[in-house]
Amino acid sequence: MFENNTINLELLKKRAHNLRWATVADGVIPLTAADPDFPSAPEISEAICSFAKDRYYCYGPAEGLPDFKESVANYFQKKRHVPVSPALTFPVDSAAFGIFLTCKAFLLPGDEAIIFDPVDFLFRYSVEAVGATAVPFAIPPDTIKVDFGNLEKLITKQTKMICLCNPLNPTGKVFTKEELTQLGNIACKYNLIILSDEIWSDIIFYPAIFTSIASIDEEIRNRTITITGFSKSYGLAGLRIGAVIAHQENHFKMLMEASLHYSTIHGANVLSQIAATTALNKCEYWLNDFLKHLTAMKDKAVNELNSIPNFKCIAPQGCYVAFTNISNTNKSSQEMQEFLLNRAKVAVVPGLKQWFGDGAEGYIRMSFATSDEILSEALYRIKLALK
Ligand SMILES: Cc1ncc(COP(=O)(O)O)c(C=O)c1O
Repeated sequence: MFENNTINLELLKKRAHNLRWATVADGVIPLTAADPDFPSAPEISEAICSFAKDRYYCYGPAEGLPDFKESVANYFQKKRHVPVSPALTFPVDSAAFGIFLTCKAFLLPGDEAIIFDPVDFLFRYSVEAVGATAVPFAIPPDTIKVDFGNLEKLITKQTKMICLCNPLNPTGKVFTKEELTQLGNIACKYNLIILSDEIWSDIIFYPAIFTSIASIDEEIRNRTITITGFSKSYGLAGLRIGAVIAHQENHFKMLMEASLHYSTIHGANVLSQIAATTALNKCEYWLNDFLKHLTAMKDKAVNELNSIPNFKCIAPQGCYVAFTNISNTNKSSQEMQEFLLNRAKVAVVPGLKQWFGDGAEGYIRMSFATSDEILSEALYRIKLALK
């Protein structure tokens, strides 16, 4: 399923945007946005086609299709040991929107929210989009054990929220139960909302173990908004579908209100909800095989990157991205990105503030959700260019 011959480059060159195949010059390999090169599971297209053939595309329920809500709740109950209620679960048109929506529902202009540094740009972007201030908490990529006690020093009267990204894109860190308990207890002490983005939680490499912060205890769970999505695990980025889970009725009401779903100004596409429901109910086998393939690609990428003089890549515990320290090369992240694009014809994401925060300078990020052949070719070209 994850062989080179399953990848349709001709289609990717037309359809894969967001810094990927459709946006780069011919001959360039884009290891940029974390979006798999592989076609999604066949059951998903069968479910979409089966619904579409009846030719009825009526309004769906504002709070989401019952099957979608059930499947997401079931997934959290069984796989994450979180007592999620379908009634407090609803679909959104992407995990990205879920992050923004949580900020919109719980932050006012002038409030502060703590975000990790480095972390995916969506957190800073969403906090600032609602007029609040993002306060970075440094988690350097080589941190083995995070002492969240230091986070307490960043809390002021304006602090309303801690944004948790677990696993952490771009470093691939998976937080331990002990770390999450410390973070959760601080949130309880200061009465803060925890925004827990768990979109990467299916992509965990042995022996790392994923813990959902809402599984720790009731007090922590009751102040958590859990967000997940289907772009990373099932390759559904273009369907723009994610889920937001509240663990308290009043939080659900605030989120639904902020979503504008009741007014139909916003809402999650019915076909996308069907695709995500099918992914959860029928495609676990696909995800398991994908993870097996990704584990091999991770080992290959990390080994090859570490064989390049002045490159240092710590193996990610989760996420299918390799975050490499290039600070000993005498090139900035931006210079290295340009060098690799021009000389190796490989596109990577530079560790710029606009993508990951200040803490990413000196790093580049590469996705390895591709075939062995494409990844090997990209790594070979990088090695050769840097020789
Ligand atoms: C941590 C994190 N959250 C959210 C997203 C966005 O997911 P979606 O495609 O569902 O908007 C990404 C995508 O890279 C991500 O890395």
